[in-house]
Amino acid sequence: MITLTTTAPSRPRLVLDGVTKRFPTGTVALTDVSLSLNPGDFVSVVGPSGCGKSTLLRLASGLDDATSGTVGVDATSTGYVFQDPTLLEWRTAARNVELVQELRGVPREERRRRAQEVLDLVGLTGFERQYPRQLSGGMRMRVSLARALVAEPDLALFDEPFGALDEITRLQMQTELQTIFRLRRFAGLFITHSVSEAVYLSTRVLVMSGRPGRIVADVPIPWEYPRPPSLRYDAEFATLTGQVSDALGEHS
Ligand SMILES: Nc1ncnc2c1ncn2[C@@H]1O[C@H](COP(=O)(O)OP(=O)(O)OP(=O)(O)O)[C@@H](O)[C@H]1O
Ligand SMILES: [Mg+2]
Repeated sequence: MITLTTTAPSRPRLVLDGVTKRFPTGTVALTDVSLSLNPGDFVSVVGPSGCGKSTLLRLASGLDDATSGTVGVDATSTGYVFQDPTLLEWRTAARNVELVQELRGVPREERRRRAQEVLDLVGLTGFERQYPRQLSGGMRMRVSLARALVAEPDLALFDEPFGALDEITRLQMQTELQTIFRLRRFAGLFITHSVSEAVYLSTRVLVMSGRPGRIVADVPIPWEYPRPPSLRYDAEFATLTGQVSDALGEHS
């Protein structure tokens, strides 16, 4: 069940309380998952393949319902970034970003201005009129990010957005995403397979067990933003990634 209420800055944007998800096929994807996401939180979830991470995100977005427990959303707008950029090939980068606002009837000038602003933010200035096939994989993911951010969401959900990118582009996208997070300060829930990506980006890392997924560790990450790329070579960074990896290893 999703409850929508008006946004108050001090209240959590997303609360899951004792959530279990059982599919009609009998598969139990999640069991007793509770989490709370406040404004300014960037929470990553890592866990073995098939443990229910995408299911968790779908429940948070309202695309699917919990079998038991509650999902409460207190956000005026939610952005969703899929693992695959899922762009419309016949629309330019800018018109892909404008699509949702177009469907909502936002006037043309207004939605163009907003699309341009967010395309600038993700580093695509000059590529607005290119079609998806004319863009690199990293640029397509930037368009997808821009599309999720154009409505200025106060809750942003990311399902392994950088999983298909090469290592160099991935590190660059991580740096850019945390810059955007610092500017926009949405509450972020970020799914990833990469322990170092989770630690680098987040204010907290949640570790999930193998299916049925439950949260087995909650590791706070202390650093302020912006975080320099060299943080990855820090001894404390290694300690934190070690903690997360150990929890993953024990519960896979
Ligand atoms: N619509 C569905 N109907 C039935 N079972 C489903 C459905 N969606 C997901 N599942 C099952 O729920 C479990 C969790 O799937 P989910 O996609 O959430 O895993 P995940 O943690 O995101 O995995 P990955 O890391 O590989 O993306 C899997 O066993 C999957 O088969
Ligand atoms: Mg998944």
